[in-house]
Amino acid sequence: MIVSAYEGPDDLRAMQELCSRIWSPGSRWHVGDLAWGRFQHTGREPGWPTRLWRDGGRTVAWGWIDLPGSLDLAVDPARPELARQVLEWFARTAPAGPRDVTVLDTETHLAAALREAGYRPAGDGPFFRHLVRDLADPAEPVPPQGYRLRAVGEADVPGRVAAHRAAFHPSRVSEESYRAVRATWPYRAGLDLVAVAPDGEVAAYCLVWLDEARRVAEIEPTGTLPAHRRRGLARAVCLAALRAAREAGAERAAVYARGDDAYPAPGRLYRSIGFRPAARTVTWVRDHPAGA
Ligand SMILES: CC(C)(COP(=O)(O)OP(=O)(O)OC[C@H]1O[C@@H](n2cnc3c(N)ncnc32)[C@H](O)[C@@H]1OP(=O)(O)O)[C@@H](O)C(=O)NCCC(=O)NCCS
Repeated sequence: MIVSAYEGPDDLRAMQELCSRIWSPGSRWHVGDLAWGRFQHTGREPGWPTRLWRDGGRTVAWGWIDLPGSLDLAVDPARPELARQVLEWFARTAPAGPRDVTVLDTETHLAAALREAGYRPAGDGPFFRHLVRDLADPAEPVPPQGYRLRAVGEADVPGRVAAHRAAFHPSRVSEESYRAVRATWPYRAGLDLVAVAPDGEVAAYCLVWLDEARRVAEIEPTGTLPAHRRRGLARAVCLAALRAAREAGAERAAVYARGDDAYPAPGRLYRSIGFRPAARTVTWVRDHPAGA
C-alpha cells in the first residue's frame, strides 16, 4: 500500500480514476465533481490537506479535508477497512474541535467506520439529493423566444463567469478559476452550454461532465441570471447539454440538488426534466478534543 499526500493534477486524476471505477447511482463522486470542486476557486489548496491510498497501481481510497474540520472521502467498497485509515488520518491532521464527514446514505461501507470512530448522523439541516435519469430520450429543448443555445466559446468567458457569479452570488469563481476548470480533465467545451439573450448577454448556462468509461454525465453547475429566471432557460440549457452528452456517449446522467425545504428550486428544475432521487447526503458529526 502506498499512502501519499496530494501533489497536483496527476493525483486529482488518480482520485477521479477511483470514483469512475466505483461509480453507481448510489456512489457519491462523479469525475466532474472532483474537477469542479478542486478548480472552481483559486487559492484554496493550503486549506485542503488531501491524501491518497494506492494498492497494486490503483487508487483504493482518498480523503480530502476542508480545514478546520470537514472531510470528504471515497473508499473502494471492495476495501471497506480503508475507511478507518482515512478517518484516523483526519483525526491526526485536523485541529481539535467539531468534525463532520458527509457521505451518501447508500455508502453503507463507510457507516460502520464512522460509527466506530464516534461519529453520529447530524439532525435536521441542509442536505443534498443525488438525482439520476437515463438519457434514452431527453426532451427537445425549447428556449424562450429570442434566446439561443450554444456551446461556450473563448469570447464568452467573461460573460459566462459573470453569469455564474450572479447566479451564485456571492461567488468566488473568477475568470482565472473558470479557465482552470476548462483545462481540467474531462472538461469539454461542447458540453458547456450557454443560453444567450437577444442582446448577447449570457443569461443561463449548464456545464456537463462526461465519464466516458461509465457512460454517465453529470450536471455541475447550472445557473440563470436573476433577471431571466422562470422563463424555462435552465430547463432548455440543461436539456441541450444532456442531449450533447448523449451524442458524446452518455447513457445516464446525475446531478445533486438541495433536498431540504429551504432551497427547493433546483430539485424542482431537475425533476421537471426527468431526474429522480437515488440517494441523499448524510453528514456525520463528532467533537474531537485535542489528542482524541
Ligand atoms: C435553479 C435555477 C437554475 C433555475 O433557473 P430558471 O431558468 O429560473 O429555471 P426554469 O425557468 O427553467 O424553471 C424550470 C422549472 O424549475 C422549477 N423552478 C425554477 N425556479 C423555481 C423557483 N424559484 N421555485 C420553485 N420552482 C422553481 C419549476 O418547476 C420550473 O418550471 P415552471 O416554471 O414551469 O414551474 C436558478 O434559480 C438559479 O440560477 N439559481 C441559483 C443557482 C442554482 O441554485 N443552481 C442550481 C444548482 S447547481
